[in-house]
Amino acid sequence: MPNEKNEAAQLWAKGLPLDEAVHRFTVGDDVATDLILVPFDAAGSAAHARMLASIGLLGMEDAKALVAELKAIRDLAQAGGFTISSAQEDCHTAIEAHLTRKLGEAGRRIHLGRSRNDQVIVALRLFYRKALLDIGDGIAALAQAFLDFSAANQHVQMPGYTHLRRAMPSTFGLWGAAFTEGLSEELEALKALLARLDKCPLGSAAGFGVPLPLDRALTSELLGFSAVQRSVVDVQNSRGRHELAILHWLTSVAFVVEKALWDLALYTTEEFGFLSLPDAFTTGSSIMPHKRNPDVVELLRGRMGELRGLAHQVEQIAVGLPSNYHRDLQLLKKPVFAAFARGAEALDIFRQVIQGLTVNIERAGAACSDDLYAAEQAFDLVRQGLSFRDAYKAVARQIQAGEFHPDRNAQVDAHTGSSTDLGLDETQAGLDRQTAWIREKRSFLSARETALFTFGDTDG
Ligand code: ARG
Repeated sequence: MPNEKNEAAQLWAKGLPLDEAVHRFTVGDDVATDLILVPFDAAGSAAHARMLASIGLLGMEDAKALVAELKAIRDLAQAGGFTISSAQEDCHTAIEAHLTRKLGEAGRRIHLGRSRNDQVIVALRLFYRKALLDIGDGIAALAQAFLDFSAANQHVQMPGYTHLRRAMPSTFGLWGAAFTEGLSEELEALKALLARLDKCPLGSAAGFGVPLPLDRALTSELLGFSAVQRSVVDVQNSRGRHELAILHWLTSVAFVVEKALWDLALYTTEEFGFLSLPDAFTTGSSIMPHKRNPDVVELLRGRMGELRGLAHQVEQIAVGLPSNYHRDLQLLKKPVFAAFARGAEALDIFRQVIQGLTVNIERAGAACSDDLYAAEQAFDLVRQGLSFRDAYKAVARQIQAGEFHPDRNAQVDAHTGSSTDLGLDETQAGLDRQTAWIREKRSFLSARETALFTFGDTDG
């Protein structure tokens, strides 16, 4: 059914009829996903308006009014009060309509020299920057929880397993610190990921620039980017590539996390009983009165699989497109936003789980049977002069003959990273370095945002 009533609502409406069902289909999930982008589009638009004024393509009074109103829009959106109608399609249209309603002519002047194609990428990039720092904080908090657990249980013995079979003596200190170190490495990778995204797309317009003297360096600086994304074609070509880089990083984080989750599912069983979850974190069975299940751990593990699924979705939508803008790219928003939201929630819940863990020292100690010390005993024979190969055979013979009674304290030497030389202070210092750069980046960006929106007050 043609719908002439909504024509004026779209930025591209030019008096032609519009099929209602197809329109709804093309809008898709944007009415919901774009609500997240409103504060970021407001920032991108404020930078664009200030830049237009600086090159004389927008009156200074108009620019000031626009920046003030865009700040009000940002605040309204953050308070949950901004809405996008389906006729308006997306946040870009809704924001321009709002500006025009409030300011009249000034609102009609802001879209000079840009396209929704570069507008959406700048909004997305600002959102990713913030969302990635939030995830970074979540990772750092989880890494700290593991480190605290490791320090508190530094010398508590447990078997170390390979192939899920008893291998060598280990400790809960060694177990916990492994995840701090893995997560710290992901924070290092986050720095590199943010550097990839640290280029301003504004000014590339539909993907081919515009014949206007836009000051791209100014918008870049106003928005706290380190550089302009020079190639206007690569701006569009990088949509999808950047999303995929983000999802690949998130799945690498999941790789660290899910090993700990698997271990928890195992070590909290009745059979192992090394660790237990707080009662409040367990769930019951509708039929078996005795059950206290680790559903939270299993759902967290499932969430890691879900993240990989979202990465796959992003990959399938993003790959195989030719250069430049294609509407397919709109579909990336939903899986990427879901990955951020569900990833952040999972990190927060997992941190609480780690903070709530108790170690059953007796159960873990009882599982440390003599065979764990076989290799250590061979090393002791080496210290007495045997070659390792002969020592290995001697111990194997003792075990086969049922005569293996190791001296559990035979090995006292330690090397970096072994259970007797964990070096937790260094692990802590490494984690502190990661949290420091996140904090610095955050305060740099928040100062930039304040400066961006105080245009009217200072440039009087
Ligand atoms: N919602 C669109 C997207 O996410 C905004 C850009 C629209 N551009 C266009 N040429 N139709 O891609």
